Amino acid sequence: MKSDQTTDRRYNGDTDTCAQNRTPENQAEARRTAAPSVAEQQSFWNGWNGGVWNGGRGEISRRQAEIVLEWLNASGRRDNRILEVGCGAGWLCPQLAGFGEVVGTDLSDDVLQRAQERWPHVLFVAGDFMSLSFEANSFDVVVTLEVLSHVSDQDGFMRRIAELLKPDGLMMLATQNKPVLRDHCIVAPLGPGQLRHWVDRSELAALAEPYFVIEELFSVTPSAHKGVRQLLTSQKVNALLSPIFGHRLRNALEARDWGWTLMLKARKRTG
Ligand SMILES: C[S@@+](CC[C@H](N)C(=O)[O-])C[C@H]1O[C@@H](n2cnc3c(N)ncnc32)[C@H](O)[C@@H]1O
Repeated sequence: MKSDQTTDRRYNGDTDTCAQNRTPENQAEARRTAAPSVAEQQSFWNGWNGGVWNGGRGEISRRQAEIVLEWLNASGRRDNRILEVGCGAGWLCPQLAGFGEVVGTDLSDDVLQRAQERWPHVLFVAGDFMSLSFEANSFDVVVTLEVLSHVSDQDGFMRRIAELLKPDGLMMLATQNKPVLRDHCIVAPLGPGQLRHWVDRSELAALAEPYFVIEELFSVTPSAHKGVRQLLTSQKVNALLSPIFGHRLRNALEARDWGWTLMLKARKRTG
């Protein structure tokens, strides 16, 4: 079972230390040229999803899922066509299925084969999302948790999601919050074949805005592995305080963008 992600050390510190000195064009170019092959990435993710995710879920993922399900619930629809991009071991897909027909896709072919046996009511399609032949304008909702930071062409990733959404379709995205992971968390080294390009709030907004109208963008799950922040974000401390203060401390920290995750709900631009 994956351990509590607030003390999760899988993610490494910043591997892109020159990023502040690059223009957006240079950064995008560096991302494209430095990428491992799709086969190398697939091999890495097969191992990662198979080894870490087949059991339970950590707090970070639990909260991401909770918000996505709240967003879907608020829409009031049960007849959606939903695509989960980078669904990993497929754990969220059966929950999404409460809101319509679900297709889950991921590079991890081995893991998806097992997911297909386990959840036959979901269609799992293995492959590189950027080149899989889904029909344009065919999904009401695209959900994608912790995938953006692991693709080589982040602008292309956003564009592809927008292409697949129906007019007015919704993207529900979770991604690592760069300043929190880079400056306050201890993270594991990059694995062979693994890509990692975290974004901050403004970079995420800039990536989405050409294709989407942003409806909500906020951070969740305050996290730190060092210093005073570690104490303030500790789940034990928060659990002790919550009978008196409710979630006020957590909410205040999230409002300061101390959350491990950035959550984005955005509607496809029309016209
Ligand atoms: C950090 S994992 C997150 C998995 C899952 N969403 C979760 O939260 O458990 C990133 C996932 O993105 C998938 N991924 C990365 N690049 C991809 C691509 N080009 N096409 C499809 N999936 C991709 C990986 O296979 C991996 O499962």
